[in-house]
Amino acid sequence: MTAQLIDGNALAASIRTDVARRAAALTARGHRPGLAVILVGEDPASQVYVRHKVKDCEESGLHSVLERQAASISEAALLARIEALNADPAIDGILVQLPLPPHIDAGKVIEAISPAKDVDGFSIVSAGALMIGRPGFRACTPYGCMKMLESIGCDPRGKHAVVIGRSNIVGKPMAMLLLQANATVTICHSATPDLAHHTRQADIVVAAVGKLSMLTADMVKPGAVVIDVGMNRDAQGKLCGDVDFAGVSAVAGHLTPVPGGVGPMTRAMLLVNTLEAAERRWRAVQEPGTP
Ligand code: GUN
Repeated sequence: MTAQLIDGNALAASIRTDVARRAAALTARGHRPGLAVILVGEDPASQVYVRHKVKDCEESGLHSVLERQAASISEAALLARIEALNADPAIDGILVQLPLPPHIDAGKVIEAISPAKDVDGFSIVSAGALMIGRPGFRACTPYGCMKMLESIGCDPRGKHAVVIGRSNIVGKPMAMLLLQANATVTICHSATPDLAHHTRQADIVVAAVGKLSMLTADMVKPGAVVIDVGMNRDAQGKLCGDVDFAGVSAVAGHLTPVPGGVGPMTRAMLLVNTLEAAERRWRAVQEPGTP
């Protein structure tokens, strides 16, 4: 079997087209959706990520503000900036790029963002809403993975999904989204003995570990859908996922490439969340009292 690739670039492009259309409609009614991105310090990877986020906004007709803060900014000063953005009517979504310098409590910063503007979906309110099946912002990477499944007509209902990784940003929300979609979900992690025993039973595998080529062909059931969330560099500096691409593509039914898979979808879902934040805020202003 040769796996069909799930083209994250193409799917993200069609999502951006839809976002641009809806953003233009809202702008025409008097409110241009706006995202504020705060970057603290000079982390090179973070600088690239935030540049992409701002560029994506520009290309889809969203307003964006990039706030660069020195690594020495105090926690109190950063919290004050978030308070100001919470109150800013031109801003619908607030994203504080992680990681933050060690003297700043990232949890406290995330919780300072108004739940109505938490477009990363990292706050306790957003995570709790997902847990109990209420509307709320979904973390962008797992949200994008669900869109990728939908794009190939893969309905998780009744399927066995194995998520490898238990981070608050990917593994846990991914498992919750799959559960909400009626999959039987197994979460594996660094303390799971015999990982392959679990992955070999999976109809859907999501690898979110951060370890180069850790999912090999012998660990995959023939025909399974394999979503690779990993972003690693090999010895030559080339971007690679958590999945041994050459090996697994001979066994899986569908596979996401790295690059060009989950990465562009994560970026696209940030635009979707920001647009939805703007649409909700607009509705709240137009029709006070409705959710
Ligand atoms: N750092 C790496 N990925 C992310 C992300 O999706 N959101 C934020 N805020 N920081 C990150």
